[in-house]
Amino acid sequence: MKRIGMLTSGGDCQALNAAMRGVVKSLINSNEEVEIYGFLEGYKGLIYGNFKMLTGADFAGILTKGGTILGSSRTPFKTIKDPDENGLDKVEAMKQNYYKLRLDVLVILGGNGTHKTANLLREEGLNIITLPKTIDNDLWGTDMTFGFQSAVDIATDCIDCIHTTAASHGRIFIVEVMGHKVGYLTLNAGMAGGADIILIPEIPYDIDKVVEAIEKRHSRGSKFTIIAVAEGAISKEDAALSKKDYKKKLETSPYPSVSYEIAAKIQERTGQEVRVTVPGHTQRGGSPCPYDRVFASRLGAEAGELILAGEYGFMVGYKNREIVKVPLEDVAGKLKMLEPDASIIKEAKLLGISFGD
Ligand code: F6P
Repeated sequence: MKRIGMLTSGGDCQALNAAMRGVVKSLINSNEEVEIYGFLEGYKGLIYGNFKMLTGADFAGILTKGGTILGSSRTPFKTIKDPDENGLDKVEAMKQNYYKLRLDVLVILGGNGTHKTANLLREEGLNIITLPKTIDNDLWGTDMTFGFQSAVDIATDCIDCIHTTAASHGRIFIVEVMGHKVGYLTLNAGMAGGADIILIPEIPYDIDKVVEAIEKRHSRGSKFTIIAVAEGAISKEDAALSKKDYKKKLETSPYPSVSYEIAAKIQERTGQEVRVTVPGHTQRGGSPCPYDRVFASRLGAEAGELILAGEYGFMVGYKNREIVKVPLEDVAGKLKMLEPDASIIKEAKLLGISFGD
């Protein structure tokens, strides 16, 4: 008999349900008797003992369902050791709830912040297995996270739609893609949608180079330009600021996001109309794409194997086309970023895509 706790934490994404279903199906198919405790709304559920008991039936029919049947929330790691407003020691409370339910393992699905807390719980002596989710694909130790390919599909659809209207009106369009710290999603959706300019956090842009790229297109007869901008795109001047000064600049900026600032600067320099489209949270919503359904199911099934073998303290990840187990202490606190000299960036440049650098 295995007693398993499960929670989904941080920003949601597609295929969370598919991954949990994978874990449960593989355990049930092994004929091991299992008791499943689903903690609600991420670590909050574990802290405050808010859970529901689940059976195999709860995981039926959810392979294609977006969101998470357990709910999710953000519980920032930087305050996890601070007592809550009623003086509760949150880490101690999580441990107590784990022990009270006599869990064998806690399966945690999450991204970067989630993994820091997961590793802390491991250090505190709990048995932990994690699964890598995020549309940002920025989790260290895995080449791929589930949610990413589904989000690429949605952001690409958005760019595709913008393409036709941009062409009709001969306008410059910016599509703002999610990703505050890394540009995987913007780069992939931008390339898939045929964007002419792609601006990502890893490559600070020079607005003059952006304008140059637009003018070059226009001089060759193209009346419209599509720019894919990551939420965290940053200019060379801003990248030179201290963290504190940059934060202040963002707080006092008259623009709702970096895309609007870029749009205003392009409009000022070229005199042309610029429009901004922000698909926002649609990128995290809806049904997972087939790739994510398969990928998340595979990760979940392998997590089930680890549980049966009593191997804990790992994230189930994907490296060089193999499912691998990565020690949690190696994953926690590290961000996987795009290298500016990555082969995909080189190839994008060969295609004529400008990164504004
Ligand atoms: O979960 C990752 C992510 O979707 C990022 O791409 C995005 O910047 C952020 O979350 C948005 O967070 P929230 O849902 O809290 O607004």
